[in-house]
Amino acid sequence: MNSAEFPDLQPAPLLEVQQLAVEYHAGHGRAPMRAVDGVDLTIAPGETVGLVGESGSGKSTIGRAILGLAPIAEGSVRFGGLDITDAGYRERARLSADLQVVFQDPFSSLSPTRTIGQTLAETLRVHGRIPKAEVDERVEAILRRVGLGPEAARRYPAQFSGGQRQRIAIARALIVRPKLVVCDEPVSSLDLSVQAQVLNLLRELQRDFGLSYLFIAHDLSVVRYLCHRVVILYRGTVMEQGDASAIYAAPGHPYTRALLESAPVPDPQAQRRRRATQVRQDAVSGGGRSSGCPFAARCRHAVEECFRSRPALETVAGGSAVACHRWADLNQGPAERHEEVPIQTVRVTDEATLRG
Ligand SMILES: Nc1ncnc2c1ncn2[C@@H]1O[C@H](COP(=O)(O)OP(=O)(O)O)[C@@H](O)[C@H]1O
Ligand SMILES: [Mg+2]
Repeated sequence: MNSAEFPDLQPAPLLEVQQLAVEYHAGHGRAPMRAVDGVDLTIAPGETVGLVGESGSGKSTIGRAILGLAPIAEGSVRFGGLDITDAGYRERARLSADLQVVFQDPFSSLSPTRTIGQTLAETLRVHGRIPKAEVDERVEAILRRVGLGPEAARRYPAQFSGGQRQRIAIARALIVRPKLVVCDEPVSSLDLSVQAQVLNLLRELQRDFGLSYLFIAHDLSVVRYLCHRVVILYRGTVMEQGDASAIYAAPGHPYTRALLESAPVPDPQAQRRRRATQVRQDAVSGGGRSSGCPFAARCRHAVEECFRSRPALETVAGGSAVACHRWADLNQGPAERHEEVPIQTVRVTDEATLRG
């Protein structure tokens, strides 16, 4: 990076993922499935980066690759300046004090036969010999901090609600005082009101502890509340990335606009209008990767070039990076508000009715 070009000092990234590719092997001579391809991602200390895309786009795979739980075929993962791409068991164990995870379903990740206190104490013990008195103290402190009383330590996972269990999962991640927490759809299975409480908690904890988050979600509206930057993923590749505020104000990629259109809105009329213009979810068969833009078959703006060559991520006016051959054509003139850009119409009659 040219320091003359970037005079204000950027903090060194805490996490740096470069050209990541992950392949799952189907076995028996079948070709491996590339779930993630050529993904770059950085997270600064204290930053929250949202990783957004519909189901199957490779979000969890990226999270798992960072945690050493998915087979990296190409590229590298650096954490705190160290290359951890091929970190072995011991190095991973050491890393886990700095690098933690909260999954969508806390029930499956909490042992049903252990009290919450036992689970939290065990997590702490893995990271070194800590005197019993201090273990108890830290368990109590973290339970209070996530909004559960210290008496929660004596109870079992089944005795808590979904939202409370997610607070426990957050307590377990934070008790070791990590630097980065991968949050893989941590509120997706919770009621809306509970979602807001848990998102609030995550934000407070970030402020208190100076944490970084990789926040995975399939819904841009959830991410909006929490993220400084967002990365939009489609079929394993990055379509757009940039400051959250810039992307919400002027989404550059047709897919980002589609995601914004599909986010739930409180007004049922507006919701109905949006639904009618939404991109069809299943327009692309899952099969082989073509050489063109992964989104081309679903994109109403696609031209021949889009099917022929894959667009590179390029920085556009406004500072975001967008991988779209049509960006310049579609963004001449004054910036369009995203509501005014119709996404590929599926049910033409519905839309005509709504317009008429
Ligand atoms: N362990 C696995 N073995 C084989 N294929 C997998 C495995 N995990 C995920 N996949 C495939 O990789 C793709 C991306 O999955 P995933 O990362 O879970 O997406 P997301 O989290 O965005 O829903 C999907 O096509 C999924 O079926
Ligand atoms: Mg997932």
